[in-house]
Amino acid sequence: SFAPQHILVTGGAGFIGANFVHWVARNHPQVHMTVLDALTYAGKRENLDGVPAANLTFVHGNICDAELVESLLSGLNQRSAAAVPPIDAIVHFAAESHNDNSILDASPFLNTNVTGTYVLLEAARRHDIRFHHISTDEVYGDLALDEQRKFTELSPYKPSSPYSASKAASDHLVRAWHRTHGLKTTISNCSNNYGPYQHVEKFIPRQITNILAGIRPKLYGQGLAVRDWISVEDHCSAIWTILTRGRIGETYLVGANGEYNNIDVLHMILKLMGRDANDFDHVNDRPGGDKRYAIDATKLQTELGWVPKYTDFKEGLAATIDWYRAHESWWMPDKAGTEEKYRKQGH
Ligand code: NAD
Ligand code: DAU
Repeated sequence: SFAPQHILVTGGAGFIGANFVHWVARNHPQVHMTVLDALTYAGKRENLDGVPAANLTFVHGNICDAELVESLLSGLNQRSAAAVPPIDAIVHFAAESHNDNSILDASPFLNTNVTGTYVLLEAARRHDIRFHHISTDEVYGDLALDEQRKFTELSPYKPSSPYSASKAASDHLVRAWHRTHGLKTTISNCSNNYGPYQHVEKFIPRQITNILAGIRPKLYGQGLAVRDWISVEDHCSAIWTILTRGRIGETYLVGANGEYNNIDVLHMILKLMGRDANDFDHVNDRPGGDKRYAIDATKLQTELGWVPKYTDFKEGLAATIDWYRAHESWWMPDKAGTEEKYRKQGH
């Protein structure tokens, strides 16, 4: 097993990255983390508030900036006065992450998700650094609503959207850098996450904050598409497990058997928030929208003994609703602009 001392966390000011930084600081306080984040519309420095200063160096910058990445890996950019060991692992979250945005303009997806991953891989190769790539189940396309099958590590790549195509490309780069250059890589492909710090553009936070802001929730199409929901905490523990004990060169699927269709999730949110279950609008469906995702996480469970802890989805939703209620000043600044953009898309 591998015991990282200093991890470069790309995209650590975004939803999952920030949850991961908090998780590592809580569970493995001996580890130092350098967060490299461009603070796009999706990243906030304040997402890392509360992480002990001793655990964290924050660098505001772009993963496509090869010189900056090189300076971090060669230790030249180490600002903290205390002796911090050199970076010995990269956990790569940074990405453009939203499907609807990729339909409007794919170019930042190609820059960040493809070119950015390439820049990191090259730097990791020069320094022979352990590389864990965070990816998505969307690289496998979708499953039919009326089949039992789930995705496994052997499912063929078949991405549907510009976002998922860019993530598939990044996975292929990681696999190639392992096979050709011997880089010590692992990949995790996870299903839909929910929890604190998720941007209000995403399905669950959008509906919660709509209700809190007095806007009717918006359901795409008939709401029959199925997503396999996992608590972001469980995703973080899975990433740690794979980073420290995963077999080099391997891919692990991450999921927690949380399949629900969108309309059922919306009904749960409305009920938990004391609203009528029919108090929402149907809006345009996503062009090319994927029908169903479902993860078979047998490999991660049997090989590495990982088990999810937060498997009561309704309880997780209730906790997430409480978080958004208590953090209005966190999400409110993004709300009007996000809704205006959706209005223009007919969403
Ligand atoms: P997010 O959009 O909330 O956060 C992305 C972060 O990356 C932001 O902090 C942003 O500022 C930063 N970033 C973007 N471009 C950058 C660049 N060029 N240089 C440096 N930083 C940059 O995304 P998320 O939902 O936290 O997703 C994180 C990762 O997990 C992504 O790789 C995504 O594909 C993957 N993933 C997400 C989910 C999910 O349900 N959200 C599920 C599986 C996998
Ligand atoms: O599966 C993992 C993926 O999950 C990640 O790779 C992505 O980064 C992440 O954004 C997420 O992608 P989805 O497209 O599944 O998530 P999103 O929250 O955008 O939408 C979930 C479902 O809800 C989808 O079927 C579209 C629908 N939807 C979405 C919004 C924003 C609605 O019905 N109403 C909405 O307002």
